[in-house]
Amino acid sequence: MHREDMDEFVEQVTAQSDLLQIVQSYVPLKRKGNRYWGCCPFHGEKTPSFSVVPDKGFFYCFGCHAGGNVFKFLSLIENISYFEAIKLQAEKLGIPMPQRQKTPKEIARDKEIADLRKVNEMARDFFHNCLTMTRLGEPGKAYFASRAISAETIEEFKLGFAPHAWDKLSTAFLKRGVKQEFLLSGGLAAERQNGDGIYDRFRNRIMIPIADERGRVVGFGGRVLDDSTPKYLNTPETVLFNKRRILFGLDRAGRAIKQAGYAIVVEGYMDAISVFSAGVRNVVASLGTAFTAEHCKLLLRYASAIYFCYDSDDAGQKATIRALSIVQGTGATVRVIVVPDGKDPDEYIRKHGAEAFAQLVKKALPLVEYRLQYVLKHFDHDSLEGKVKALHAMLPVLTGIREPAVLGEYIKRLAQALLLDEGIVRDELRRFGHQPLPEDNGPVQREPIRQAVRRTDTALQRAGRIVIRLAAQDAGILQHFTAMVPLEGVNDAVQREILTVLQEFMAQGKNSNDTELAGRLSEAAMAEFSRAMVEDLGVLSETEAYSNAVRVLRKAYLNMRYVEHSQRAAELARQGDTAYVAELNQAQKIKSEMEELQFE
Ligand code: UTP
Ligand code: MN
Repeated sequence: MHREDMDEFVEQVTAQSDLLQIVQSYVPLKRKGNRYWGCCPFHGEKTPSFSVVPDKGFFYCFGCHAGGNVFKFLSLIENISYFEAIKLQAEKLGIPMPQRQKTPKEIARDKEIADLRKVNEMARDFFHNCLTMTRLGEPGKAYFASRAISAETIEEFKLGFAPHAWDKLSTAFLKRGVKQEFLLSGGLAAERQNGDGIYDRFRNRIMIPIADERGRVVGFGGRVLDDSTPKYLNTPETVLFNKRRILFGLDRAGRAIKQAGYAIVVEGYMDAISVFSAGVRNVVASLGTAFTAEHCKLLLRYASAIYFCYDSDDAGQKATIRALSIVQGTGATVRVIVVPDGKDPDEYIRKHGAEAFAQLVKKALPLVEYRLQYVLKHFDHDSLEGKVKALHAMLPVLTGIREPAVLGEYIKRLAQALLLDEGIVRDELRRFGHQPLPEDNGPVQREPIRQAVRRTDTALQRAGRIVIRLAAQDAGILQHFTAMVPLEGVNDAVQREILTVLQEFMAQGKNSNDTELAGRLSEAAMAEFSRAMVEDLGVLSETEAYSNAVRVLRKAYLNMRYVEHSQRAAELARQGDTAYVAELNQAQKIKSEMEELQFE
């Protein structure tokens, strides 16, 4: 693949992507002049401060300062990278991506993956057929019946049974031409200790195929029929099967998660199957491992909220707290579905029915509420030491509360429960606010958009944005500006970054609408750039706004130089160096220009 091909590809995708239409498919917008307004999808708000200017190809939120072009929008809303957003759009538009020449090693790996997928699919069918169509499957059938798993569910999830024999699958597959190495590398078989052939990994177990989010089988979970151990045997890590990244059931649940606006995460396959069969279809299971940051990222592509419904035993509660800390800080909403009387969701549904479970989902607790109940239950808060520990365990979630009224309420409840003065809780909270979060709060997935926001907005920054806006459209303007204010004289680092990149672009004869620009700018710079492009200039024309802006920035630049020269003069004079006179003259000259500018 050549660079130019890639440029052309991106250009083509850009040209055919309709920002307005895409944004509108996520956010209702109302038109006002050449600008569209809506409630920002990236932060909670009731009055619209999110705007799209289709002519310029940019969106910008005046509330949380998220902004950018069409791909930036997609990457934020789908929680994918900028490049992934381009690819996603290309796929929707049917524009093929230019292919890079693959190395022989890559070709071999692609082939291995394709072959393994095929073998996995064959294995799924093998287990499923064994369960549903052969006499060998009888014990499996009986087991499913004992757990009230219906024939429809068996069909839906393509559940199966691995026969009670050493090499049924291996023999059958070798006979059908599957290479032994694939049975081994796919985790379906293992080598015999004496080096004499291979044997089946899964024997006398009910089999649950595990698929990736696109429905391709990547591995299996096999459960024993009785109480022997290990209860579950899973496919080992293979090129296809990475437990940290796979969520059981996502291929079926994806659409329901989007519709519901949240995903339910359970601990076990059987729980996911039960919940799904009970009609609650937005459910996935993490595969017996902890919920990881990768799982979180994957789910946030479907919805912005995650509900955890882990076993209500001690281990389940601990796992819940850990999972919560992973999601916290991603900006996602988290809730906890509490299953009463020490049961897992599957047992609960079997005992109380689907409707009762749906009620539990409705009563899911907000993160802070769950954490508060957990802390009050698990910390001995009679002792002073326990109180302090409990208080500290609550601080990270309290700092995450936006609404002052809600925060006030929780502070009150916490203070009452711990028999502490509310003022103490507030003081601790304030102190904590200045500390970095402790390590065990889990990796933060994406920088919350808020952090890219610059809180102050001075006249200088407003002026800078006007310059950026005009300079982006006209190389001549940029030249004029840099003659008046050299770029190193632009005080704002973000704006300096934008202007520097613009200058490079223009020097190469490139257009500033080029998506490449977005790739070159930092997050903060991209947001600022978008803001510059869409900001309202009030009654001023662009040229009027520009000449005002240049004056403001030039004055600031001159002032900076005036101070430099004056300080240098003072220093030289102190050292008895007569060169101070020249410095003083410089300072004086600058001062007169500043005064002239004053009257312009
Ligand atoms: P649980 O022990 O809670 O099993 O393990 P479960 O889901 O309730 O299963 P049933 O109802 O007894 O059939 C939860 C998850 O942990 C993993 C599996 O992914 C399981 O679904 N696990 C558990 C293993 O991988 N190996 C084990 O030996 C046990
Ligand atoms: Mn169970």
